[in-house]
Amino acid sequence: MVVDPGSPVQSARVVTDPDVLAAYTEDASHLRGSPEGLVRPDTAEEVAEALREAQGRGIAVTPCGLRSSTTGAGLAPRGWSLSTERLVGVEAIDAERRTAIVRAGTVLREFKDAVEEAGLFYPPDPTSERECAVGGTVACDASGARSYKYGATHRYVRGLEVALPDGSLRWYRRPIIGKDAAGYVGLRDPVRLFCGSEGTLGVVTRVEVDLLLRPEAFSAGLAFFVDVPEALAWVGLARSRESGVDPRCLELLDAAALRIMAAQGSGIGIPAEAGAAVFFEAEHRVGGEMAVMEAFWTLLSDAPGALADDTVIASDHTQQEQLRLLRHAVPATLNEEGRGHHASGGKKISTDWAVPFHHLAPFMKRVDGWLEDARIERVARYGHVGDGHPHYNLIVKDAEEAARAAVVVDRMCSEACALGGTVTAEHGVGKVKRTYAKYRFSDWQIASMKAVKAVFDPTGIMAPGNIWDES
Ligand code: LAC
Ligand code: ZN
Repeated sequence: MVVDPGSPVQSARVVTDPDVLAAYTEDASHLRGSPEGLVRPDTAEEVAEALREAQGRGIAVTPCGLRSSTTGAGLAPRGWSLSTERLVGVEAIDAERRTAIVRAGTVLREFKDAVEEAGLFYPPDPTSERECAVGGTVACDASGARSYKYGATHRYVRGLEVALPDGSLRWYRRPIIGKDAAGYVGLRDPVRLFCGSEGTLGVVTRVEVDLLLRPEAFSAGLAFFVDVPEALAWVGLARSRESGVDPRCLELLDAAALRIMAAQGSGIGIPAEAGAAVFFEAEHRVGGEMAVMEAFWTLLSDAPGALADDTVIASDHTQQEQLRLLRHAVPATLNEEGRGHHASGGKKISTDWAVPFHHLAPFMKRVDGWLEDARIERVARYGHVGDGHPHYNLIVKDAEEAARAAVVVDRMCSEACALGGTVTAEHGVGKVKRTYAKYRFSDWQIASMKAVKAVFDPTGIMAPGNIWDES
């Protein structure tokens, strides 16, 4: 429904039908937004126009993609929710220059499929790649399992078209010079600035990325261990230069995660005595799978606590998809479980901290002790341990358990930062993690970020409440 102007948030371009707005009050976090209006522009120019109007009228605007964020970053606390969902389509794939231009609302997986059809490869692979928008992955600098080898989204972004609150539409391009000694390094590259800015500076409308040549083939495997410490020790081996293997991802699945996977009834054998597993992938030439898998096998057969004989190897596409879907079932199932406790004040709490790998095993041991002391019963640990980045998912049944869990999560974040880590390695701060931002940033860093925001967004309309509290 398009409404007649009257209330402060109304405008010809804004939908205020509560039934439509309802879908924009939720994402994959447990938070709820309260947008007063919804704008769904069809073009980048319309995004810019909407921002110009919002700035002129002092209306807050929170950009959102497809609302797969786990941090509430796309939820509007007031004002307009600006969805990029209609900005869809792959505009160009240049196989010679190995670049592509894609509109921000395009589903990431659809973009990657188009790229792969052209024989090329776009590495970022967040678990939500079938549900998230490319623009959202830029906004939170998403990564995923393969970031162990390939790094996060920002590595591949060479240019961004962004709409700014003054109504302008600009292209920013990454500097193309290898050496540059001019001024503050953090501010030399506006593209880098926008990756991870979580909607606080403007709205990403088009993304130009670098592509790689598509790997000829890869194999995937699931190796089982008696428990998490043994799995982590093997990951340490697999990461070492002398290991003889070159994995592109090294993902932990603890016993709770394995139970979720077993319950999917996929037919993939998960041994009952396994207390942990490591999911791995490695690229190779066509026909090279035997040699690659033998190298993994050698590494496993010597490893203490490995259930090497139970290792599952997937070298064909169907099995690989099956393994990936099983891995993806873990967060999806836990999200549902958390949702089941919303009525009683419970939820899923997901951590996204990371520590340098050499600190990971002892740190996880300490974290597990804190959770036990706090009597948090439903805990699953899984994810990107090759990067020192496991997700702890805590399912808390009510507000009282949630409060106990929050104390432990706060401690995890503060101590992860004390070890040289971060409070969020791939989901972004959004609204859920902003209380922990103080462990990652000094006061001068927050002040500098606010000063940069004031340049792009002088009236402070963009994404209020993301990254830091409104004040
Ligand atoms: C994952 C998401 C939750 O690793 O980051 O599955
Ligand atoms: Zn993850």
